[in-house]
Amino acid sequence: MIPANKPRTCSFRLRHTVIVGFDLQRIMEKKAATDVFSQWALKGKDAGMERGHAASVNAMLELALPNVKSDFSAIDLGCGNGWVTRLLTELGASHSEGVDGAIEMIKKARETDDAHKYSHGTLPEWNPGRKFDLVHTMEFLYYLEDPVKMITKIHDEWLEEGGVLIAGVDHYLEHVDSLTWPEYVGVHMTTMSIEEWKNAVESAGFSDVQIHQVAAKEDFPGTLVMMGRVSHQ
Ligand SMILES: C[S@@+](CC[C@H](N)C(=O)[O-])C[C@H]1O[C@@H](n2cnc3c(N)ncnc32)[C@H](O)[C@@H]1O
Repeated sequence: MIPANKPRTCSFRLRHTVIVGFDLQRIMEKKAATDVFSQWALKGKDAGMERGHAASVNAMLELALPNVKSDFSAIDLGCGNGWVTRLLTELGASHSEGVDGAIEMIKKARETDDAHKYSHGTLPEWNPGRKFDLVHTMEFLYYLEDPVKMITKIHDEWLEEGGVLIAGVDHYLEHVDSLTWPEYVGVHMTTMSIEEWKNAVESAGFSDVQIHQVAAKEDFPGTLVMMGRVSHQ
């Protein structure tokens, strides 16, 4: 079956060759997302993601930054070519770094900029070795088999007391067009409803949990944004 709608963040085209490729892909094993995104970096498709995600990330940071201290430290999970890591410094971070499991994304980030730390690491196993005031992540969490485990780890090990998580996903149950993406891209995606994402953030222990849908358009219900704070008081 040919998917009716192409993924918002993916530049797949429904030409004959691609349709044949898609049919073959259905019977093949799923690929590692990090391998797929390494190929994307080599093909220059990271720039399209940066453009495609900019409106959502800007809206996410508008929600998050008023809730962090002025000289905040930050990390971007699944940082791709590092554009949000650099943006966070422009927006006032005293320390900003990124991590991604796609080696070619990290090579590109390091080639673009030697002022920030970009780590090559597979999550959730990789550890930053320090805590942050802000953890940002855009279009990364659902590639994990267990996003709830990652969100809990961010709460328990990555964030300072009072620190903020801001996370955006475009693949979720209510975004019906996105439900073809796992098959289309050929990688695992964990599909959760808005309520399940909210429960995940709350059950991880976050306080003041907010759920938003940002940057919606006529044919797009918006990036689902989860925000929460670490508070042991
Ligand atoms: C859709 S891209 C988003 C990149 C970037 N956040 C942006 O908005 O441009 C998802 C990124 O998550 C990374 N990723 C996926 N699974 C990962 C994992 N298990 N560990 C580390 N990075 C992972 C991919 O390599 C890729 O760069």
